[in-house]
Amino acid sequence: MAVRVGIAGVSGYAGVDALRLLLAHPHAQIAALAGGGSAGGAVADSWGALAGLDLPPIVPLEGAGFGEGLDAVLLALPHGVSGGWVARHRHLLDQGVVIIDLGADFRLRDPAQHAAVYGAPHAASELLPRAVYGLPELHREQLRGARLIANPGCYPTATALAALPLVEAGLATFLVSDCVSGVSGAGRKAGPRNLYCEVHESVVGYGLGGSHRHAPEIEQILGRQAIFTPHLVPMSRGMLATVTCGLSRMVTAAELRAAYAERYAGHPAVVLRDEPPATADVRGTGMAHVFVTVDPARGVAQAQCAIDNLGKGAAAQAVQNLNLALGLPEMAGVVRVPLLP
Ligand SMILES: NC(=O)c1ccc[n+]([C@@H]2O[C@H](COP(=O)([O-])OP(=O)(O)OC[C@H]3O[C@@H](n4cnc5c(N)ncnc54)[C@H](OP(=O)(O)O)[C@@H]3O)[C@@H](O)[C@H]2O)c1
Repeated sequence: MAVRVGIAGVSGYAGVDALRLLLAHPHAQIAALAGGGSAGGAVADSWGALAGLDLPPIVPLEGAGFGEGLDAVLLALPHGVSGGWVARHRHLLDQGVVIIDLGADFRLRDPAQHAAVYGAPHAASELLPRAVYGLPELHREQLRGARLIANPGCYPTATALAALPLVEAGLATFLVSDCVSGVSGAGRKAGPRNLYCEVHESVVGYGLGGSHRHAPEIEQILGRQAIFTPHLVPMSRGMLATVTCGLSRMVTAAELRAAYAERYAGHPAVVLRDEPPATADVRGTGMAHVFVTVDPARGVAQAQCAIDNLGKGAAAQAVQNLNLALGLPEMAGVVRVPLLP
């Protein structure tokens, strides 16, 4: 029998990507959709490309019973909105409903840090201990049967998958993560940073000086200091993290590749590459393509991870987590093959 899934925020980029994946999921059924300004309309009012599909109407997030009678809820909402909703609907967790927040509200363990980073008191801090951080490559066993899942940020996912084997082996003296992201990372709302004329044929850094909200999340995962620089590049979707790491002892590229292969054995969303991956290699998929090498003259390792910010960086990772939480095959509904060329 299919699991009944609801998506909140389906008029946005992460929500509609979750919808795309779940429509092709062999064990899931789209049972409810919710939103804010889009509520009261049809999905095709927000996404003309989806005209002709038989989908539930978009109901208001509050007051219309969204969440009731479902097996799982995916919240693709701005931070603060999802935390408040979970606080008001905590009875769903007790009923066994899986709630996956694609936003930031349950990622940082420390509510004071969350308040400092996101500029408002945490809306549901008493629920933080119940949340599992949804990076399957780190917490797969805790995710099995979990009911409240904090889906990781896109930059933290890409940085962590590039860096984890180095950090876990105690090899990293310093760690620098330079990342690029497609413009969909900023969401569908209009703003100067996602207007065509301002992003086309231009690259810009942002969040320098440790001020990006994903910086503490990256350090929480890695358990160490990391210097993180994000850049916006003129593509719709895709993310590449380049992690440069000082080596505490010299290792060869072949030794590192063997260590990465061992670390990621049994992790179906990670593919080790013999060459630097391109974002096009993972576009529309839930895969993370990882490459590692050594610069012996400078005593550093360099690792790269390419993901789709909306795939392994958001919706596909949420589907992977949903599968783990509900005991479904981990990669059911997670696309592995990009559109080529
Ligand atoms: N974009 C990415 O690459 C990415 C990656 C990882 C995580 N995320 C996270 O995923 C979440 C969604 O991101 P996004 O990029 O999809 O944003 P988006 O395109 O701006 O979409 C936001 C969605 O939230 C809904 N919404 C906003 N305020 C609401 C309210 N008060 N009540 C009900 N619905 C409300 C909007 O619905 P209406 O149109 O109906 O108002 C819209 O569907 C964010 O927390 C983001 O940080 C995004």
